[in-house]
Amino acid sequence: MSRPFNPAAERNKAPILAVIERYLLRARAVLEIGAGSGQHALFLAAQLPHLRWQPSEQPSQLADLRENLRGAALANLCPAIELDVLAPHWPLDGLDAVYAANVVQCMTSPALAALFRGVGAQLAADGVFLLYGPFNRDGRFTSEGNQQLDAWARSLDADFGLRDRALLEQLAARHGLYLCDDHAMPANNQLLVWRRVPT
Ligand SMILES: C[S@@+](CC[C@H](N)C(=O)[O-])C[C@H]1O[C@@H](n2cnc3c(N)ncnc32)[C@H](O)[C@@H]1O
Repeated sequence: MSRPFNPAAERNKAPILAVIERYLLRARAVLEIGAGSGQHALFLAAQLPHLRWQPSEQPSQLADLRENLRGAALANLCPAIELDVLAPHWPLDGLDAVYAANVVQCMTSPALAALFRGVGAQLAADGVFLLYGPFNRDGRFTSEGNQQLDAWARSLDADFGLRDRALLEQLAARHGLYLCDDHAMPANNQLLVWRRVPT
């Protein structure tokens, strides 16, 4: 069986590491949502050996992810678990870090709301949510490539597509999270860093 492989994940994994490692210095474990092919999980777990990397996927994608991670000899890479963000109860709580790459444009509106609801509910008080991907600004695409990606995503599901950063901030605020950093990344992507609103 040929394993799913994403060339973009190969290109963006090192730039992502260069940004996220500073936020994970004191973290013990990271939950990755929508881990896809598992390329980020394999790379980031290897590069960040001080923490446990917990990849997850929704049920329909879990077998491929598990197949890709099979045989990885990394003590800190946990077996992939099932997590559909729409599930009322997530399998982990008290998370000190959550990571998700390129999931927003491939989630329905209810799933996107559930992503922020779940992270807001499960993230520890000093936890961090690292969200990578292409996002719109002020209702506009930031590049032609992002516009093409939006069209591709919508061809899969009319409720997919690039989301505006302002929408993400609204969803986050509803669930006790605020945007603390916004890193420009190669190829018109961004790495958004969210934390809990202090109480
Ligand atoms: C474009 S892929 C990104 C995969 C990988 N993170 C990467 O950067 O290559 C989008 C991912 O979002 C996941 N996803 C979409 N809806 C989801 C949901 N309701 N719960 C969990 N994951 C979801 C898909 O299963 C898919 O793996």
